[in-house]
Amino acid sequence: MKFLNTEFFSMVSAVLRMSLQEHAMVNEQGEAIIELVNVRKVYVSDGVSTEALRGVTLMIKRGEFVAIVGPSGCGKSTLLHIVGGLDRPTSGKVTVDNICFNKLSDDDLARVRNEKIGFVFQFYNLVPHLSVFKNVELPLIVKGTPPRERKEKVLSVIDEVGLVDKAYSRPTRLSGGEQQRVAIARALINDPTIILADEPTGNLDSRNKIVIAELFRKLNERGRTILVVTHDFEVASYARRILHIRDGKIEREEVKS
Ligand SMILES: Nc1ncnc2c1ncn2[C@@H]1O[C@H](COP(=O)(O)OP(=O)(O)OP(=O)(O)O)[C@@H](O)[C@H]1O
Ligand SMILES: [Mg+2]
Repeated sequence: MKFLNTEFFSMVSAVLRMSLQEHAMVNEQGEAIIELVNVRKVYVSDGVSTEALRGVTLMIKRGEFVAIVGPSGCGKSTLLHIVGGLDRPTSGKVTVDNICFNKLSDDDLARVRNEKIGFVFQFYNLVPHLSVFKNVELPLIVKGTPPRERKEKVLSVIDEVGLVDKAYSRPTRLSGGEQQRVAIARALINDPTIILADEPTGNLDSRNKIVIAELFRKLNERGRTILVVTHDFEVASYARRILHIRDGKIEREEVKS
């Protein structure tokens, strides 16, 4: 019995030591805002199962700008959707801003997502017959924000993306790059700490592509954590860290000094 007790205590102290070391590591390198541990995702459709993610372990620090690159079908969008709480992993742990997503109900997950995360997609998904102002205002109307507060917030994010002079134009009158900036303004409206972008420049010419990449850089310099999936190496070069995904796994990563 005595032997068992000694063994038990040495085991406990080893585990405590390990977790303290882990904690010290996180603190040394900066606070983790996104943590994935052995995340797997299997889609089953029409009796066929596809392993989209095959054990992804990943830590992103608050304020990082990270790009995700890799061939079509390797699991980039799946990864982004799981980080953003749009989808759940088949197994593995997802923690965002110290909240364990695995433990949240669907409603709570949606609430956390709306509070903390802004999404930007390849296709801007703007409402064509509403002005830029109205498009950006929509999430606040849904949330029940009072009109005066709405106006102030909308004009501030429209200013942040440099489109004040287009606030009352319709999206159909804007260039692709300008439309993407409206979509980014809409993603910023709830002041998210994290911005997730899936091929945000996939539809843009090279000039507009750079405008959007520069905008992400500015948003990152203002403290937002940015995770951008891209096929474009010029856009990826704006990130401090580039994760290369292949066949549902992180194959390697590049860190810029
Ligand atoms: N809803 C789904 N149902 C079934 N299979 C899916 C689903 N979504 C994705 N997949 C499959 O999972 C794998 C990863 O898809 P994902 O969309 O994450 O790839 P991706 O890296 O974003 O590709 P792309 O660069 O073409 O956008 C692919 O084989 C895809 O066919
Ligand atoms: Mg994709």
